[in-house]
Amino acid sequence: MTDQEISRDVVVVGAGAAGLTAANELRRAGLSVAVLEARDRVGGRLWTDVIDGAMLELGGQWISPDQHALQETVEDLGLETFSRHRDGDSVYIGPDGAVHRFTGEMFPVSPATEKVIAEVTERLDAMAAEVDPDRPWAHPKAAEWDRITWDAWLHEQTDDDEAIRNLAFATGTAMLTKPTHAFSLLQSLLMAASAGSYSNLVDADFILDKRVVGGLQQVPLLLAERLGDDVLLGQPVRSLEWSEAGVVATTDRTVIKARYAILAHAPVLYSRISFTPPLPRRQHQLHQHLSMGFVIKVHAVYDRPFWREQGLSGTAFSPYELSHEAYDNTNHGDERGTLVGFVSDRNADDLFELSADERRERILESLSHYYGPEAKNPLVYYESDWGSEEWTRGAYAASFDMGGLHRYGADLRTAVGPIHFACSDLAGAGYQHVDGAIRMGRLVASQIVDKARTAASQE
Ligand code: FDA
Repeated sequence: MTDQEISRDVVVVGAGAAGLTAANELRRAGLSVAVLEARDRVGGRLWTDVIDGAMLELGGQWISPDQHALQETVEDLGLETFSRHRDGDSVYIGPDGAVHRFTGEMFPVSPATEKVIAEVTERLDAMAAEVDPDRPWAHPKAAEWDRITWDAWLHEQTDDDEAIRNLAFATGTAMLTKPTHAFSLLQSLLMAASAGSYSNLVDADFILDKRVVGGLQQVPLLLAERLGDDVLLGQPVRSLEWSEAGVVATTDRTVIKARYAILAHAPVLYSRISFTPPLPRRQHQLHQHLSMGFVIKVHAVYDRPFWREQGLSGTAFSPYELSHEAYDNTNHGDERGTLVGFVSDRNADDLFELSADERRERILESLSHYYGPEAKNPLVYYESDWGSEEWTRGAYAASFDMGGLHRYGADLRTAVGPIHFACSDLAGAGYQHVDGAIRMGRLVASQIVDKARTAASQE
C-alpha cells in the first residue's frame, strides 16, 4: 500500500551529488522535481559522521585544482576549504621493507628504476593527452587498448618489477581499486585523462589537494536543503514503468508520476529496479560489464599528529604494504591528529576473511611501518566498508571489465525514452569523483530542460 501519489516534471532516483545537482538545476529552470533516496540520509558516497567523538569523512573528501564543477558548487554553497597537511618528508617503503624519506613526486627508487618510471610516465601522459575522457572509445586505438590488460601493457614496457608496481599503482590500487589484470589499458587511460594526465594522478598534492571544513557531505546536505520537502528519504525506488509519455516510479510508500526520470546512482544498482517494459537489450548487456572497485578507507585518530614531530608530512606510499597509501587527515582546527590509510582490491578481500581485531592489528601494523610504533595505538579506529553498503556495493566507483569500455562506453549515458542516467561513474572529466557527479547532474538536467522546452513549443 502506498501512502501518497504525487506528480512532478522530473523524478530523480538517488540523493547523491549527481542527483541533487540535477534536481537543483531543473528547479532553477522552472521544472518541478522530487528526489527519492533509498537511505535515511542524503549524500550517497559522501558521508561525514562522528565515530567515538571523532568527525570522520567516511567517503569522498578531497578536491583537486582541476575539479571546477565541484569548486563552483562549494563556492556557491558558501563552504570553506583547507589544504591537506603536507609539510615535511613523505615516506616510501621499498621491496626490502626499508623506509625511505623523500620529497617531491618521484619515489626514492634506484636511478635505473627512476629512469623507467619517468619514461613510461611520459609515454602514458602522451597517450592520455590523446584520449577524450568523454569519448575514450573514439580514439583510433581504442579497440587495441581495450584488449590488453593494464598489467600486461606495463609488462610490455619494462621488466623492472619495482617500476611496474609503482606505475600500476596510480590507476590500479589507488583509483580503480581493482587488480591490474582486471581492467584494460584504455580504462586506465580514461582514468588518467579524466584527471588531466597520468602525472596528475600520481601527484598527491594535486589529486588530494583541498578538503571542505566540516566535511564534503555538506555539499549534498546543502543542495538537499534547497529542495526542502522534495527530497524523500528512506524510499528505495522498487519499480519504474515508462513509455515515451513519461514514467511512474514506485517506492514502498510513494508513487510519483513524472515526464522524465533520472537514475542518479551507481550503475551496478540499476538492476535493483524492476523496469516495465524492460530496459533495451543494449542497456541490459552494458550494465553487466560494469563493476565496483573495492577499497577500505581506514581512519586512525591520535591525541596529536605525532608524525609531524618526526618531520613527516604524513604522506606515505608503498606498493609492498597492506595500506598502500596513507595521509595526514587531521580535521581543520583539530588538536588531535588523524591518519587515513587505504587497503585495496585483493588485500581488502583477504582482510575481510579475518576477525575485526585481527584486521585492525594488521592495518595498524602496516601504518606503523610508515610512522613508527605509536601508530599502533589510536584513540579512535574505524574502517569505512562500502562493500557492505547495500546502496553502493563497493568503492570508489564502477569501471568496465576487459573490453567493455570500447564495446559499450558510447551508450553509457544514452537516455532510454524518458529515462536519463547521471553518476560520477559515467563521467568523463572528474570520472569516479564528486566533480564528475556534479558534471553529470548538470549535463542530464540540461538535456531534460531542452527536451521539455522542445515539447512545450510543439504543444
Ligand atoms: P552516489 O552513490 O554518491 O549517490 C547515489 C545515491 O542513490 C545514494 O544515496 C544511494 O543510496 C541512492 N540510491 C541507489 N539506488 C537507489 C534506489 N533504487 N532508489 C533510491 N535511491 C537509490 N571522490 C572525490 O571527489 N574525492 C575523494 O576524496 C573521494 N574519495 C572517496 C572515498 C571513498 C571511500 C568513496 C566510497 C568514494 C570516494 N570518492 C571520492 C568518490 C565519490 O564519493 C563519488 O564518486 C561520488 O560521491 C558519487 O556521487 P553520485 O551522486 O554519482 O553517486
